[in-house]
Amino acid sequence: MADNHFGGIKIRHLYKIFGPNGQAYIDAVKNGLTKAELNREHGRILGLRDINIEIPSGCIQVIMGLSGSGKSTLIRHINRLIDPTAGEVLVDGVDVVKMNDVQLRDFRRRETAMVFQKFALLPHRNVLENTVFGLEVQGMDRSKAVNVAMRWIERVGLGGFEQKYPNQLSGGMQQRVGLARALANDAPVLLMDEAYSALDPLIRTDMQTVLLDIQKEIKKTIVFITHDLDEALRLGDQIAILRDGEVIQQGTSQDIVLRPADEYVANFVKEVNRGRVVQVEAVMSPLRAGAPVHGGMTIEAHATIEEAIRLLASSPEGEVTVLGASAQPVGTVTFRQLACAMVNSQPHDEREAAIALVR
Ligand SMILES: Nc1ncnc2c1ncn2[C@@H]1O[C@H](COP(=O)(O)OP(=O)(O)OP(=O)(O)O)[C@@H](O)[C@H]1O
Ligand SMILES: [Mg+2]
Repeated sequence: MADNHFGGIKIRHLYKIFGPNGQAYIDAVKNGLTKAELNREHGRILGLRDINIEIPSGCIQVIMGLSGSGKSTLIRHINRLIDPTAGEVLVDGVDVVKMNDVQLRDFRRRETAMVFQKFALLPHRNVLENTVFGLEVQGMDRSKAVNVAMRWIERVGLGGFEQKYPNQLSGGMQQRVGLARALANDAPVLLMDEAYSALDPLIRTDMQTVLLDIQKEIKKTIVFITHDLDEALRLGDQIAILRDGEVIQQGTSQDIVLRPADEYVANFVKEVNRGRVVQVEAVMSPLRAGAPVHGGMTIEAHATIEEAIRLLASSPEGEVTVLGASAQPVGTVTFRQLACAMVNSQPHDEREAAIALVR
């Protein structure tokens, strides 16, 4: 793989209108024709409208949104399983939309790998042969391909299962094979469309952990689609929220939870466990310049509220000094501030009650 292939993605002014001759309606859509109007008046479906997302190399970009909001349509533009009606999809600066068939085939094989919700394993191949498949297609020498495949089978926790067939494996194990197969390709871009949505909650959390652990080493550019906000917040370095084919909000988990752009996003955020997401930094009292710093307990600014509460639980009347990136004090936080932030999205009377309890 060439050294300049790192997998950074830039999506610019991307539109998709499904149905014959979508091009004819692009100006009307750009001038504000809504998805409902396009469908009612012209029988065309607006899949995506003016999507602009920049995904730095090595970053996990989560795409969230209700069913039908355009998540699969968007991710399928990145390896051009869907042709856009307008716009650019740049991967390492090269526009996927402009590639010819040969370039596109080469790009799909070398630059991207996909993990599917329903695993999409080959039923008559065992775990090893499923994992080795993409490498075979690339023409890799058999013994080298087996070595690479075995390394990833071990890495996703399937060591010893390489001779088993898909129907002998649980859903979680099948998805591990799907992940091993995708990683074996060593493509810089990993596309995961609801990859974990069919798994039981505990298995799902395990698989998130596997992905985060592996990502620390491999630093791929991962586009991860999910319906689940907890999963989005846990995995996403960046999160984009789609509604009716449009990006309603993009930002970090902190941006989404603390400053939801509208009611639609607020509805997603309502049920979230803020203690596990919101960082101490968002809650603390910033240190006044020159104020004396007390000794005692300290915590990192990026620690969660829950972690800080655990620390303060033994002396709830005290406060913790919050440390910035280079371990310098940047603020202080009290038990009360933490408790308030924890229940901030709850109805007013519940919030008051919770605060009263810690007063
Ligand atoms: N091939 C197609 N032809 C016509 N309309 C389509 C096509 N593919 C998708 N759509 C429409 O585009 C919109 C977005 O669909 P998409 O599958 O991207 O949604 P999604 O967010 O992935 O939903 P889900 O969470 O259910 O997977 C929907 O209105 C859908 O009906
Ligand atoms: Mg989908």
